[in-house]
Amino acid sequence: MTELIKLMKQRQSCRHYSDKPVEAEKIVSCINAACLAPSACNTQPYHFYVAHAPEAVAVAAEYCKGEKVNKWVSEAKAFVIITQEHAEIPAANSEARKRDFRQYDIGLAIENFCLEATELGLGTCILGVFNEEKLKASFRIPSHKSIALVIAMGYPADEQREKKRKPLEEVITYLR
Ligand SMILES: Cc1cc2nc3c(=O)[nH]c(=O)nc-3n(C[C@H](O)[C@H](O)[C@H](O)COP(=O)(O)O)c2cc1C
Repeated sequence: MTELIKLMKQRQSCRHYSDKPVEAEKIVSCINAACLAPSACNTQPYHFYVAHAPEAVAVAAEYCKGEKVNKWVSEAKAFVIITQEHAEIPAANSEARKRDFRQYDIGLAIENFCLEATELGLGTCILGVFNEEKLKASFRIPSHKSIALVIAMGYPADEQREKKRKPLEEVITYLR
């Protein structure tokens, strides 16, 4: 098994965190990893809003709790809110301009972020459920921007789980 696969198996959605605070420089390292991901025409159509100060973390946790899900987020020690930004695809690339690749770009960046966090001993959980309007208003994120996802972070207090995934035969078709 490659070191990369080991790391990918180690990364898991972490929903229990210890009391240990997250070092600010580790969050920057994760954002740097995110920015190393490929993006269509290298546009990097994202911005990272970091909740690290305890007051900001408490506000972010409040608005990442859904009605039924994500009650555990109050255990997280930091949050990174990722907004989708404008992608300036060069006019010369008229074919690429017909499509919106930003969600792919953000997904790739977030996986890099989470893998670097794992390498640094941190746990992460990507959150797709949050109160976008409240988060934007609380953190003065411009209202025209769209929040793509939020990442909850902290030192894990979860046990390592076995990965449950579809069998490869189900997701591969060999073409001829
Ligand atoms: C786009 C996206 C949104 C997600 N939203 C949530 C969420 O709101 N709450 C949560 O607990 N997990 C969330 N997850 C985590 C998934 O449930 C998790 O990645 C999946 O079950 C696989 O488990 P693993 O990450 O431990 O390998 C999300 C994952 C992705 C990629």
